[in-house]
Amino acid sequence: MTTRSRPVTLDCRPLTPERWQDFVKLFGKRGAYGGCWCMWWRLKRAEFERQQGAGNRRAMKKLVDSGQVPGILGYDGDEPIGWCSVGPRESYGALMRSRVLKALDETPAWSIVCLFVARPHRGRRVAEALARGTVEYAMQQGASVIEAYPTRPRKGRLPPVSSFMGVPTLFEHVGFIECARPSASRLIMRYVARANRAPSRSRKAAGLQPKRNVRRKRSQ
Ligand SMILES: CC(C)(COP(=O)(O)OP(=O)(O)OC[C@H]1O[C@@H](n2cnc3c(N)ncnc32)[C@H](O)[C@@H]1OP(=O)(O)O)[C@@H](O)C(=O)NCCC(=O)NCCS
Repeated sequence: MTTRSRPVTLDCRPLTPERWQDFVKLFGKRGAYGGCWCMWWRLKRAEFERQQGAGNRRAMKKLVDSGQVPGILGYDGDEPIGWCSVGPRESYGALMRSRVLKALDETPAWSIVCLFVARPHRGRRVAEALARGTVEYAMQQGASVIEAYPTRPRKGRLPPVSSFMGVPTLFEHVGFIECARPSASRLIMRYVARANRAPSRSRKAAGLQPKRNVRRKRSQ
């Protein structure tokens, strides 16, 4: 039997204007990946492509300066080593327009749409610790249901480019339960917060009917 290592101790902090430079440091020259700057789920595709790189960085800065918290930074001491994008579902325009990831029901939910861990720190359960810290933050902000949309690895490990929404096991460890498989590679998982109790692991508590059928279509 293999024993899982304990998640690293991570200091999780909301991204506010004072932490902008930490975000820039973590995201580096490529804005995490391909000039994204974590704007993929916020913009229309054409807009995203038009402003990929510096434009997306400016758009994210504007968002942060407006007082909106677009996600959580994870620190190892003073070093920013991880990022998790979270917010009310309706703050992600592209998610609201997604046919595959359409809302399961009327329950107001918060969404986790992106994870990024600095390369030297991957494989240390930083993402898991970040997801925990992010759930805690969302609950403090009043969220009672938090959703994640991980990618199911088919064979072996996912390449970095496909792993930005996390993998199912990562969220299972935190207490999320699978609620739907809207495509062969995509899951919808929920964490249901309950006062003074561990998260509920039942679909009923998540306010859900039996699982939706898997559609064999691949798209975001
Ligand atoms: C995906 C990512 C966030 C995972 O971070 P991490 O800290 O290495 O993950 P963890 O160590 O917490 O792993 C938690 C679980 O997920 C699994 N996992 C992590 N990465 C995986 C991958 N690429 N494929 C399959 N499983 C993976 C781990 O094996 C572990 O499962 P286990 O505990 O059951 O063994 C990280 O690899 C990453 O940042 N990738 C790049 C994503 C990116 O480019 N984001 C920006 C897009 S703009």
